[in-house]
Amino acid sequence: MTNSEIVEQTIAFVKETLQGAEGGHDWFHIQRVFKNTLLIAKEEKVDVLVVSLGALLHDIADAKFNDGDETIGPKLAQHFLTDLGVNKDTIDHVIKIIENISFKNSLEKGNKFSSLELKVVQDADRLDALGAIGIARAFNYGGFKNRELYNPDIAPNLKMTKEEYKKSKAPTLNHFYEKLLLLKDKMNTATGTKLAEQRHQYMLDYLEQFYQEWDPLQLNTG
Ligand code: ADP
Ligand code: NI
Repeated sequence: MTNSEIVEQTIAFVKETLQGAEGGHDWFHIQRVFKNTLLIAKEEKVDVLVVSLGALLHDIADAKFNDGDETIGPKLAQHFLTDLGVNKDTIDHVIKIIENISFKNSLEKGNKFSSLELKVVQDADRLDALGAIGIARAFNYGGFKNRELYNPDIAPNLKMTKEEYKKSKAPTLNHFYEKLLLLKDKMNTATGTKLAEQRHQYMLDYLEQFYQEWDPLQLNTG
């Protein structure tokens, strides 16, 4: 099987598996991450098959299995790629990417694994949390969780533990300060950084407009 056939088969598998997935992690999220990956990969010396498969399979665990078992995604990917006849080194690398792509995961595992391929896919995934798409995804998530858009009385409270904060039903606008506005400084590649900076500025402009519309007379009455 040629590399492009492997990628085509993987696209079909992911589309099928993600049917009915929630909006933040549906096929179109994967498709955007895949496209961002190819864009960034143009400027980096990476194994294009590895980054392609890593991007396509990175959220496969979130499909139907939301029970917190993070081994299911890698196992599913391993099984699928083995059946396709992909070589073992490629499979091993793709699995490492899936296991380590989230910042939390890589920290918890003591940051044992690193590769340029992982960095490229990680940048591509982070880009999808930024800019116009990132804003849409954040409010989509907030709506799903029944969160307020914004509440001037609930500022991001960094003294809370992560668990307390999750339970506090913080408004969606807080997520910008907790995560989205911090991402541009965590990018790995030059292309990723450049794209992130543009999307970061777009979010700052958005926030400015948001506060202006929230309180047009700037009376600060909350
Ligand atoms: P990914 O798996 O794509 O890296 P996450 O699973 O962390 O991202 O989140 C999916 C999307 O939901 C992202 O766009 C993220 O910004 C958004 N999101 C996650 N947590 C929150 C939150 N507390 N409030 C608003 N949006 C959130
Ligand atoms: Ni993702």
